[in-house]
Amino acid sequence: MEKKIINLGIFGFGVVGQGLYEVLNRTKGINARIKKICIKDPNKTRPIDSSFFTTDKDEILNDPSIDVVVELINETDAAFDIVSTALRNGKAVVSASKRMIAENMEALYKLQVENKVPFLYEASSCASIPIIRNLEEYYDNDLLNAVEGICNGSTNYILTKIFEEHRSFETALQEAQDLGFAETNPTLDIEGYDSKFKIVILLLHAFGTFVKPEEVFNFGIHHLNDFDIQFARQRGCTVKLIGAVRRENGHVFAYVLPHLIKEHNLLFDVYNEYNGILLESAFTDKQFFVGKGAGGTATGSAVLSDISALLYNYRYEYKKIKQNNQPHFTNNVVLNVYLRYSSPAQVNLEQFESISEKYESPTFRYVVGKINLKDLQTAKWLTDKGVNVLVIE
Ligand code: HSE
Repeated sequence: MEKKIINLGIFGFGVVGQGLYEVLNRTKGINARIKKICIKDPNKTRPIDSSFFTTDKDEILNDPSIDVVVELINETDAAFDIVSTALRNGKAVVSASKRMIAENMEALYKLQVENKVPFLYEASSCASIPIIRNLEEYYDNDLLNAVEGICNGSTNYILTKIFEEHRSFETALQEAQDLGFAETNPTLDIEGYDSKFKIVILLLHAFGTFVKPEEVFNFGIHHLNDFDIQFARQRGCTVKLIGAVRRENGHVFAYVLPHLIKEHNLLFDVYNEYNGILLESAFTDKQFFVGKGAGGTATGSAVLSDISALLYNYRYEYKKIKQNNQPHFTNNVVLNVYLRYSSPAQVNLEQFESISEKYESPTFRYVVGKINLKDLQTAKWLTDKGVNVLVIE
């Protein structure tokens, strides 16, 4: 982009939109100004002058003086419509909409190639952690083996309150909502969908493989009960919701599942809305990235960094796609898990390849054993609220 000052057209003025506004105002060195903000409800009271706002998307999409479209809305289809129109209109786009991006990854890649315009979305995965740019630039080789960690701030906030402060799930969830961390529909956070969207995006940048969100298994923290918490504590562990992507033997697998995390694990001390990502690569072993994974200004600062990167013509090159040795996606991998249930009829233990521990009491039972991810993915019994599963590393 050759201009000295770039004009922004923003869609959405919720938690992230307002966060961006604040970050932009407090960052003197960035030559970008907001020209228009498109919102849905013109009658809402907003903290800035009403002349900024419009309800007509074409006032941004068809304005030739707007250089960058910043898409920060909640509705997935509308977001895809805005982003694809803007790219076709030759505008650079920055987005934070993980679900929209994960569900339309291949189409969005093609739109960038066809229209030769940049589309940046660092804020979509782990908010303030610059993970996408690191995967793109630093790991532009085939040495990377795994990307895994905590990529949802709300569930980490809830788990922190439960394990560190003995608070209830419901109170902690309410707080995560009040603080603006949770999705409008918090089921997306607590059942692991939000983490999955981020994992699908990271998988593409880490390994060059397009995977659809529905191919990846996600199970959240919605079945966690006092027995599981006690089980974790007795073993000196905490519970974290983990998104994992790992390459093995020319294949790559991914999932979102709660894990029992031991004290020596770097993820143990990632608290509240913070996210933590562990990368594993040949020769370097583990590398650890940590930072706020939710919240207005934390996410807004990642959006600002993308806007700033456009000023020096940065774009994702998707080098792993071009290298043409992408691993194939698979769910065929064996995991060691703790499975809690109350009656044998609730579960199908025959699906376990082996069982190393079994406990039975009048109220709760559990087994520890090995089961294939493919079997977990199709297990109807996991929808029973009386059943929970945790990965044991
Ligand atoms: N609901 C998301 C989270 C927001 O809690 O991580 C950031 O993507």
